[in-house]
Amino acid sequence: MGESILSIIYIIGAVTFIMGLKMMSNPASARRGNIVAGIGMLAAILGTIFLFRNSDGSPLKNHIWIFGGIATGTVIGVLAAKRIKMTAMPEMVSLFNGLGGASATLISVVEFTHLAELGFPPDQATPGILAILFSGVILGNITFSGSLIAWGKLSGKVKDFSFKGQHIINIILLLTSIGLSVYIGANLYSGDTMLLFYGLFFLTIVYGVFFVMPIGGADMPVVISLLNSLSGLSAACGGFLYDNKVVFTGGILVGAAGTILTVLMCKAMNRSLTNVLIGSFGGGSTAVGSKQQGSYKEITLNDSAVVMSFANKVMIVPGYGLAVAQAQHTCHELQKMLEAKGVEVKYAIHPVAGRMPGHMNVLLAEADVSYDKLIEMEQANEEFPSVDVVLILGANDVVNPAAKTDPSSPIYGMPILDVGLSKNVIVNKRSMKPGYAGIENDLFFQPKTSMLFGDAKKVLQDLISEIKNL
Ligand code: TAP
Repeated sequence: MGESILSIIYIIGAVTFIMGLKMMSNPASARRGNIVAGIGMLAAILGTIFLFRNSDGSPLKNHIWIFGGIATGTVIGVLAAKRIKMTAMPEMVSLFNGLGGASATLISVVEFTHLAELGFPPDQATPGILAILFSGVILGNITFSGSLIAWGKLSGKVKDFSFKGQHIINIILLLTSIGLSVYIGANLYSGDTMLLFYGLFFLTIVYGVFFVMPIGGADMPVVISLLNSLSGLSAACGGFLYDNKVVFTGGILVGAAGTILTVLMCKAMNRSLTNVLIGSFGGGSTAVGSKQQGSYKEITLNDSAVVMSFANKVMIVPGYGLAVAQAQHTCHELQKMLEAKGVEVKYAIHPVAGRMPGHMNVLLAEADVSYDKLIEMEQANEEFPSVDVVLILGANDVVNPAAKTDPSSPIYGMPILDVGLSKNVIVNKRSMKPGYAGIENDLFFQPKTSMLFGDAKKVLQDLISEIKNL
């Protein structure tokens, strides 16, 4: 009876994961989607703890340990999620991915050790089970150590590191890990099985570090998405191992979603995954420029207020700097003020603006900016010729014309917001420093462009006061 109820709970859990994912594809229902999937997960966890029966019919024991672990994880998770700044979200996702990978590895280690204690009975240590165990260790450890390095890079604690021939060494490390797994599986009763298994453990940790180390800083969000899909696959191995459908479904969903996201991000940057993985692109502190930049001109707050107030159409281009300044609410206020003066205001959203997929959409949704005001890159590029003023708020790489005009630029080929097609461009940032990719931006030196320096929030507040006084 209990088993049947548990099966039904697992099916409900799997369905809520799929429903939750579907709801997350729309900003209006995303929050509810998260809650729906969370309820499904809670039901699956509680169902397992109280209804699962071992093969001898006995229930799960160690309730104190299980609930102790859940309570500790819940407290840490809630505190971390509450404290984290929106701009640091990729770092947190990276850490969580890493923990997911570590959990999958631990499952494999525990189960392999258990099989070793039983002397690898042939009916339990089948080739299929061993393949799943080794896959769990390989995928889980790569996710764990790779995610820690990605977290270190994003938070500025770890610098890019690569040496000549590293990609070859990486391939050798990966092939050796797979070869070692096959060898262990074929020589289970040789005596040094556990030693070799720990060798595999160590090798895959090193591979995860080497895999992420040389990847350029600006490509970290793509790598995190890739590691996210690996964490899903490693969790799915656990689901396979325990014949647990809800863990398997959850893992596969994470794996599939992470893979799709990785592909979408590569597409938005017009780069192949191989190029991302071995391109060593961006993240350096020194700017690379194609040519002598010339001089730029500045615009005063008062002039900016006048130009925008008397425009027919203003297009706002949000970027990472808007998120850093937490200026989304002030930006919405400016939008409403301009609209009250009869100005049409829209937001042009680049798919990789900010530091995570959908960053700008989430940021503006937080400030209650109506979703129909946000237009995608292709449509924005069609509309720019009819725009009187483009106001760029803390965006840089996503409006860099070098992506179209300079074949030697590392971002050449990446689709950009073609703001130069509009009549006037006002760029708000704090200095002439480059964006995340570390590349100079010719846009700032073009005749149509004026620089409005300062922190985005302060500048927007001052602009609002100026417009009020007009
Ligand atoms: P960035 O190119 O990183 O430029 C952000 C600009 O904001 C900087 O130049 C900075 O200039 C300015 N800024 C920082 N703090 C500010 C503040 N408080 N007030 C005003 N301005 C501020 O941003 P972007 O245009 O959004 O491009 C995103 C980058 O991330 C691209 O290189 C993209 O390829 C990469 N990337 C993103 C993703 C996703 S999924 N979003 C994925 C992979 C890669 P100052 O220091 O002079 O102020």
